[in-house]
Amino acid sequence: MRLPYRQRPLPGCRGGPHLDGRTSCVCQDPRVIQQWWHSAVVYQVWPRSFADSNGDGVGDLRGLIGKLDHLSDLGVDVVWLSPVYPSPQVDNGYDISDYQDVDPLFGTLADLDELIACLHARGMRLVLDVVVNHTSDQHPWFVESRSSRTSPKRHWYFWCDQPPNDWTSLFAGPAWQLDEATGEYYLHTFAREQPDLRWEEPQVRAAVVDLLRWWLDRGVDGFRLDVISMISKDLDKPEGILGFGPDLHDHLHELHREVFAGRDLITVGETPGTSVEQARLLTEPERRELDMVFEFEHVSLDRGVSKWDVVPLTLPTLKRCFETWQDGIGSGWNSLYWDNHDQPRVVSRFGDDGEHRVASASTLATVLHLHRGTPFIYQGEELGMADARFTSLSDYRDLESLNHYAEAVARGQPPEQVLAALQRTSRDNARTPVQWDSSQHAGFTAGTPWIPVGSAAGTVNAAAQRNDPHSVLAHYRRLIRLRHEVPAVAYGDFTLLLPEDERVWAFTRHYEQVELLVVANLSAQHVVPALDGWQDGELLLGNLPEPGPVLRPWESRVLRR
Ligand code: NOJ
Repeated sequence: MRLPYRQRPLPGCRGGPHLDGRTSCVCQDPRVIQQWWHSAVVYQVWPRSFADSNGDGVGDLRGLIGKLDHLSDLGVDVVWLSPVYPSPQVDNGYDISDYQDVDPLFGTLADLDELIACLHARGMRLVLDVVVNHTSDQHPWFVESRSSRTSPKRHWYFWCDQPPNDWTSLFAGPAWQLDEATGEYYLHTFAREQPDLRWEEPQVRAAVVDLLRWWLDRGVDGFRLDVISMISKDLDKPEGILGFGPDLHDHLHELHREVFAGRDLITVGETPGTSVEQARLLTEPERRELDMVFEFEHVSLDRGVSKWDVVPLTLPTLKRCFETWQDGIGSGWNSLYWDNHDQPRVVSRFGDDGEHRVASASTLATVLHLHRGTPFIYQGEELGMADARFTSLSDYRDLESLNHYAEAVARGQPPEQVLAALQRTSRDNARTPVQWDSSQHAGFTAGTPWIPVGSAAGTVNAAAQRNDPHSVLAHYRRLIRLRHEVPAVAYGDFTLLLPEDERVWAFTRHYEQVELLVVANLSAQHVVPALDGWQDGELLLGNLPEPGPVLRPWESRVLRR
């Protein structure tokens, strides 16, 4: 089943009243064609921790099917499903050993077909996560490739006598692994069990085209393409492991031509380290590559020398970063996100997960969702779930965190210091089970959860929020409805106000005859923002009841005039 598809040109930039403190007007490119996914909201399911139907402690497809009411009540349009393919689970499914099946841990292909049908029946779509920068070392392609130096699939991966560079794997240790049997090294950007595919090899690209078409023919509505910017590498460059190699655009053109063109689907590429200029090239529709990319700049601002090093971040820096992307993407399109399975929870990271948990979670949501771009919600974010902050190493499961711990301690860093860093940065912070209710294991499983449940599950859960109009969940519902009903949310020109204000995040969106003001207090103090001319604005959305002249701690509003 296909959903309605709208197409009409956008108007160009219009003038309009400007408030003091504005810095720039972001103009719509008149070439931009409206797409249904511009006013859509995507919800990410990380299946291992979503809902467990069979009591084995691991979430699964039938668990997800049983929770679709939660998603349709929320109002999301698209579900992005993290990998459920057969996998040794070294990297929780991002190490795929068969692209055309479902791992028994998560269910069966029939369950996935049923999920697609159930989502479509509710007017939602399914985006699959595809990991084609690398495979699992158990994938038959790699098993064949490593079997001998003369294997017909030898050139599907990077093999060499001596490593041509000293790249370090993003999961610690060298990126080149010696294969004792054949005496050559292979490349793995991530774990040693995740060998990188050689996209220069035409047969690799043809195989990827085939598997993507196979899923589309099965009814899926698009793809999230894992680290897609890494599929072309320059082995001569010290930083080449991050990709953006010379053939990236050609490879994406080819995928577009062979797979995406002429189909009503949505593609979003994960592109760590992308600049705004690169992102524009990747997403401008006339270039025929991708619809959107995930940039990493705003989630790197509070990091120092490495992802494990947390440094202070000021609000003006964060606001400026968003403004740069609003402006710089041109006729391309932004994705908007705070959380995902690789990032700590936003309420703990940029908000206040103590006294102001509800207000800060909902205000962070307001500012994100009111920018121009397609918002992505990660499971549990809509409940204001906080970081796990495990205090014992034995609670951590993620190999990236465990590898880092082992490496840092071996280098001489005090174990308690490394653990303290993991509490702020580990991916496991966001990987604890979704908190459905206050029963044992938060209603996630009848068995023993594969990772401990967050400590606040007794109070922070879906059941407690479902009928509470002041909950984080209710606020997300209202934000999604607003995007669906008010075109200025998707398409309005963006103007940042009060850029240097350390506590207030304010901006306008302007579309046709409508202007929206978003004003948010990102502090625990009371503030009175100087925003003249909006006294008579119509209140479309607020996160706290009974708004007055002062913005209370973590209060936010959306006004229209
Ligand atoms: C990016 C994914 O989001 C992450 O979870 C994974 O570990 C790496 N790619 C490797 O596939």
